Amino acid sequence: MSIIYLNGEFLDRSRAAIPLDDRGFLFGDGVYEVCRVVQGQIYRFSEHWGRLQRGLAALEIQLGGALDEESLQSIFLRLIEENDLESGHATVYLQVTRGAAPRTHGFPASGTAPTIYASAAPFNIPTQLRAEGAAAITLPDIRWARCDIKSVNLLPNILGKQRAIEAGAFEAIFLRDGIVTEGASSNLFVVLDGVLRTYPLSNYILPGITRSIIIEQAQGLGYPVSEIPITQQELLRAEEIFATGTTTDVQPLVTVDGRAVGSGHPGPIAGALREALEAEMEAVGAASA
Ligand code: PDD
Repeated sequence: MSIIYLNGEFLDRSRAAIPLDDRGFLFGDGVYEVCRVVQGQIYRFSEHWGRLQRGLAALEIQLGGALDEESLQSIFLRLIEENDLESGHATVYLQVTRGAAPRTHGFPASGTAPTIYASAAPFNIPTQLRAEGAAAITLPDIRWARCDIKSVNLLPNILGKQRAIEAGAFEAIFLRDGIVTEGASSNLFVVLDGVLRTYPLSNYILPGITRSIIIEQAQGLGYPVSEIPITQQELLRAEEIFATGTTTDVQPLVTVDGRAVGSGHPGPIAGALREALEAEMEAVGAASA
């Protein structure tokens, strides 16, 4: 049995129903968030709430009084409890769409209630993949120019991920005009000449919560960080590459398009940052005791 939240109600997933006119279904007209849960605690919740607010504002989706930061946190905590996810790792998901209304491209009548859906799921850390590293492929970044919005409209991302899977790889590295932007479902870091590089915050990448945590941790550990974009040529001589994300943690990428990255094994900076992230998550989880 899986309990989900839909528009004010907690109910079994099998009983949940969305109208066919929902604009999330018809147009992909909505935003989402995924948060990590450790021992029943939601990791970096307020950062996810902040990004959700910016996405909703950019799309002009009004929550009205339907949800605020505190009520969303209580919804998540109840889902964690009802689904017996209070120990170990889990994720919570939130999706807000512009609601259900007869299909027209323009916004529906004001006062149309947004659709609010939340769920929780167990999460198993793929420890072997994290430790051994994974393969990546490169693909053109065919996305729109508002990749900073965490839109449910993820077609280029799912096509990219599928190409990666078919190539036996974990992630697709997107290239826009010869520049590395991010992964299909992660942000990317490259170590080059000892400097940790990542694409600067802009409309061309998602402002990943994990990305910002990793930048902070890297600086704390004394690794130089530079938000200067990485070119395709630089990628070829990267010493280390890793992907970051809520469900990606710090995932070393050890081959790109079949060529070894550095030694072909996870590098020391990725290793140190992976440990630092794990330690912070475990500390948050331990606070629940
Ligand atoms: N994806 N970039 C893209 C395109 C993403 O889809 C994600 C996360 C990230 C990393 O962001 P964060 O560190 O805030 O999770 C970057 C989520 C987890 C998903 O779609 O399931």
